[in-house]
Amino acid sequence: MKLAVFASGTGSNFEAIFSAIQRGALQAEIVLVVCDKPSAKVADSARRKGVSTFVFAAKDYPSKEAYETTIAEHLESVGADWLVLAGYMRLIGKTLLDKYPGRILNIHPSLLPKYKGKDALGQALAQGDMLLGASVHYVDETLDGGTIIKQVSFSRTEGEIRTAIEQRLHHVEHELYLAVLQELSKEAQ
Ligand code: GAR
Repeated sequence: MKLAVFASGTGSNFEAIFSAIQRGALQAEIVLVVCDKPSAKVADSARRKGVSTFVFAAKDYPSKEAYETTIAEHLESVGADWLVLAGYMRLIGKTLLDKYPGRILNIHPSLLPKYKGKDALGQALAQGDMLLGASVHYVDETLDGGTIIKQVSFSRTEGEIRTAIEQRLHHVEHELYLAVLQELSKEAQ
């Protein structure tokens, strides 16, 4: 599998996938990191690891179609065959959906279909949910929509502080994404 990881922020999911590949737990290669936030930590981290990056600012392009066409050129030049969204905070448009049908994955920090969009954990906590979780799903044109592939849930404890919950959630996400990618990689062999 030749993965292109799309991210906008810290990139802990990118790092987890990268290290799984390094230690031989996943038969794949990250051929590109696509990042829409020039100052994002993930862009630096990818460069330091020697991973090719395409970093852009959407405001420099006239439309989604225009920047996705440029992204598609970069993807083609490195031979990416799976797009792995890991904290990429933009809707994928028709240009990429048409080029990679059934080959775009996303991870979301909630038990979808609950709490789509931004700060899903905050939304769950505001509702008083004790059962939290994360989902990996195929991407369609809707926000955090598309067929769910796998979900993992965990319970928070009464009074557990948000930073501790976030840490656990990230850990759950890293394991979940790896499990899905391992399954897909086996199917691809
Ligand atoms: C992750 O929790 C991911 O599920 C979330 O952004 C975070 C990125 O963390 N994605 C979404 O909310 C998508 N709607 P990371 O940059 O440390 O991987």
